[in-house]
Amino acid sequence: MSNVPKPETAVGLTRTVVLVGLMGAGKSTVGRRLADRLGVRFVDSDAEIEAAADMTIPEIFERFDEQYFRDGERRVIARLLTDEPCILATGGGAFLSNENREMIDASGVSVWISADLETLWERVKGKASRPLLNGADPKGVLTELLEARYPLYETAEIMVDSASGDPHEVVVDAIVAALEKAGHLSATGGNEDKNEH
Ligand code: S3P
Repeated sequence: MSNVPKPETAVGLTRTVVLVGLMGAGKSTVGRRLADRLGVRFVDSDAEIEAAADMTIPEIFERFDEQYFRDGERRVIARLLTDEPCILATGGGAFLSNENREMIDASGVSVWISADLETLWERVKGKASRPLLNGADPKGVLTELLEARYPLYETAEIMVDSASGDPHEVVVDAIVAALEKAGHLSATGGNEDKNEH
């Protein structure tokens, strides 16, 4: 019998859950479902940056540069971490910055959604929305990013695996169980540990 809370159970998220992981890990899809499950707001940092800049991410990279995008990403994460606890899906590069990791560690809970290369590749190939994968060898780039980034993703507080055949609900269940185990869900609701950090 699983002790994963069901949607009708009154649970309070004590900290913002920050989903990290490589492109194609399912951060946004899982995040939306997780937010529904816990009855909190879902926010996607990429979408927030696009709305603030009134440009798509490929346009931001083309008209400005990656650094401009990263500055926007840092500001969005900082702002969202001071709001009510929510589910925040970040772009795959967000957790690489020391500053972002420190902010997330201080006021959120980081959850790495890991997946193997083939699963990620199946999900991202042929899509033009990710500027880092728009070159001649996108799978090679994805492989390099995986090797370079996994040691940092591994420092996340919680790790869940998203295997290719798993429905997203399985990943949501795993995150809810891990949040509960780590004490980030309270039966009474609210954000009572917010001021301690
Ligand atoms: C990036 C991942 C993208 C987006 C941008 C850069 C990265 O987000 O933030 O294209 O550095 O891995 P997703 O991980 O949601 O695709």
